[in-house]
Amino acid sequence: MVPTMGALHEGHLSLVRVCRAHCDRVVVSIFVNPSQFAPGEDFERYPRTLESDIAALETVGVDAVLAPSPADMYGPGFSTVVQPAKVAQTLEGQFRPSHYQGVTTVVAKLLNLARADVAVFGQKDYQQLAVIRQMVHELNMPTEILMGTTFRDPDGLAMSSRNRYLTAEERQRALVISRALFACRHRVGQGEQDARELATNLMQELIDGGLDSIDYAVIADGQTLESLDQIRTGAVALVAGYIGKTRLIDNVLLDPTS
Ligand code: PAJ
Repeated sequence: MVPTMGALHEGHLSLVRVCRAHCDRVVVSIFVNPSQFAPGEDFERYPRTLESDIAALETVGVDAVLAPSPADMYGPGFSTVVQPAKVAQTLEGQFRPSHYQGVTTVVAKLLNLARADVAVFGQKDYQQLAVIRQMVHELNMPTEILMGTTFRDPDGLAMSSRNRYLTAEERQRALVISRALFACRHRVGQGEQDARELATNLMQELIDGGLDSIDYAVIADGQTLESLDQIRTGAVALVAGYIGKTRLIDNVLLDPTS
């Protein structure tokens, strides 16, 4: 299974290809999950493009599309939730406090509905992947979780359904995020080990490059997502910030051995 919220782009399709390489049958879910949006976020205006999504999925060959309505997923009196692990509290969790509980609950439901043996999630939402991995492990769910690497436009911008909110000028400025992350990875490749120094540089480049506001720019442990002092195996650099009214996230793996 490849769970999505639709408005599909090449990043989503790359996950479908990973899934197909591992599985006999592939189900893609398309569901804009209300419970992972806080009031004031973009739930209402989130792009809903079911027909073109299905057309795109036909080109990569999926066996089924699961596109439930909110009423299908959350019937009257629905009240069960999956409380996410501690890794959900940092970073995104600080800025979107109820987000990951919405994600874990809906992903548990979707994996159960599909009886999925394998599910593929994108590195693009690195913390989401960490939260889901821990849920599946700790709740003994029989689904193997795979990671698909982040698919980028040729100029480096990580593909996202939210990129379509950006004006041409904003899209150009948004490139600072991937540029700063790649520069950070480059410094690690050159031997920089001081994660505090790297995080300071990362932040400065984002400010200088015109990111309108920064929620976080950190160097963190790949499993706990706690900030690091020193680069070590599994280290990851993560950024969240705004270009205009659009909130964007991105990350790169910094593992010196990878
Ligand atoms: P959505 O944002 O639609 O993303 C669906 C999947 O596509 C996620 O696993 C996400 O990490 C992945 N993805 C997004 N952009 C990508 C890119 N540029 N390259 C590779 N993969 C990318 O994430 C969600 O939906 C929801 O939270 C969901 C898991 C479906 C639960 O509602």
